[in-house]
Amino acid sequence: MRVLVVGGGAREHALCWKLGGERGASEIVCAPGNAGIARDFRCLPADAGRPADVVALVERERIDLTVVGPEGPLTAGLVDSLGAAGHRACGPTRLAAEIESSKAFAKRLMAACGVPTARSVTCTALSDALGVLRDERFGYPVVVKADGLAAGKGVTVALDRASAETAVGEMMVDRRFGDAGSAVVIEEYLRGREASFFVLTDGVRARVLPSAEDHKRAFDGDGGPNTGGMGAFAASPLVTEAMADRILDSIVEPALRGLRGEGRPYRGFLYCGLMITDDGPKVVEFNARLGDPEAQVVLPALDEDLLPHLWNAAGGAIEPGAFRVRPDRYVGVVLASGGYPGAFETGKAIAGLDDPALRDGAQVFYAGVADRGGALVTAGGRVLTVVAGGAGFAEAREAAYAAASRISFEGMHCRRDIGMRAIG
Ligand code: AMP
Ligand code: GLY
Repeated sequence: MRVLVVGGGAREHALCWKLGGERGASEIVCAPGNAGIARDFRCLPADAGRPADVVALVERERIDLTVVGPEGPLTAGLVDSLGAAGHRACGPTRLAAEIESSKAFAKRLMAACGVPTARSVTCTALSDALGVLRDERFGYPVVVKADGLAAGKGVTVALDRASAETAVGEMMVDRRFGDAGSAVVIEEYLRGREASFFVLTDGVRARVLPSAEDHKRAFDGDGGPNTGGMGAFAASPLVTEAMADRILDSIVEPALRGLRGEGRPYRGFLYCGLMITDDGPKVVEFNARLGDPEAQVVLPALDEDLLPHLWNAAGGAIEPGAFRVRPDRYVGVVLASGGYPGAFETGKAIAGLDDPALRDGAQVFYAGVADRGGALVTAGGRVLTVVAGGAGFAEAREAAYAAASRISFEGMHCRRDIGMRAIG
């Protein structure tokens, strides 16, 4: 089978790596990929946000199955376009992907099918939003979210009314996120610990992947600004087998049923961003894809081929249950450019990538890198993820940080406490 992975980050590298090691795939190609992925897989230029470009590539390359990594192409309707042209693709249609691309839709769906989540209101007028904040309906802190996609930056946890009003003003008046802020969701602040729960679904049945925890803040001890994710570990100790069953019963199944009822059957990876509260798991957000950096630790934990299940999720019936997993624990550390998530410099030479000690015990998944004369240089905020497994989290952490210590570039920044939360 000829497989195309759409996207160009470390998550897509992990998908290529996983599928590349399986029997069923005769060739994996990635579009657009990046210079690091291109070391192991053929990468083809394409504008992943333009469905017509990708459809043309699928036809030129005689691709049998397309797997879509990021939310942008899903929201642009890539799976719809591929389907209309008779090609099989694993991922939700544009309307089904609104579970991520419209927080207002996600909240309405959850309310309609009784999925536990933070109490919220959606406002399309500034005066309504300010009224909700004045009423103190949800107390403080309160959470203000832009309705649409805002590259992970559209959420403010406001400690008081003044900062909540500022956040609403930036979204609705200054239009900091453009149309994504035309509507805002104001919601109750949930207390607890976050976990990421993933299933692969054919719209009816779901197959459960290992859970994970992300580290979203820039600095150790969960300080500093929110980022795309500075590291992750799998599996989350919070998601016991009993908890997984509860999440399936109270969240995944009702949401899939609700989506079918809306005429938006959902196929592909569904990411449930959860707060594990004293009252049980509640949805913070849904995403229409695997997480990044979670995918980099979840995919190595699988102890069976992914490809047959991707194929079934894309067009057939998936085998329900849980993926077979390895007993090991996995830790992934993101090496980022100094200054990220703010301004940072690029074009820094990356040293140590060919250190054999690094190749042995760990895996490097590339994100923001470019080729300069046959060597890799930095080209983005999150440059790469170093992943290692071990019998426990302590061993996995040690192996991941030992490998990361072989790599260096000017200004390199990483958190030193990835996975500590799992050790306690
Ligand atoms: P989101 O983009 O919706 O995942 O939000 C980004 C981050 O904001 C989440 O990962 C949480 O850490 C935090 N967050 C979002 N909504 C809530 C909430 N209702 N209560 C507490 N924290 C939240
Ligand atoms: N790790 C968070 C995300 O992928 O959205």
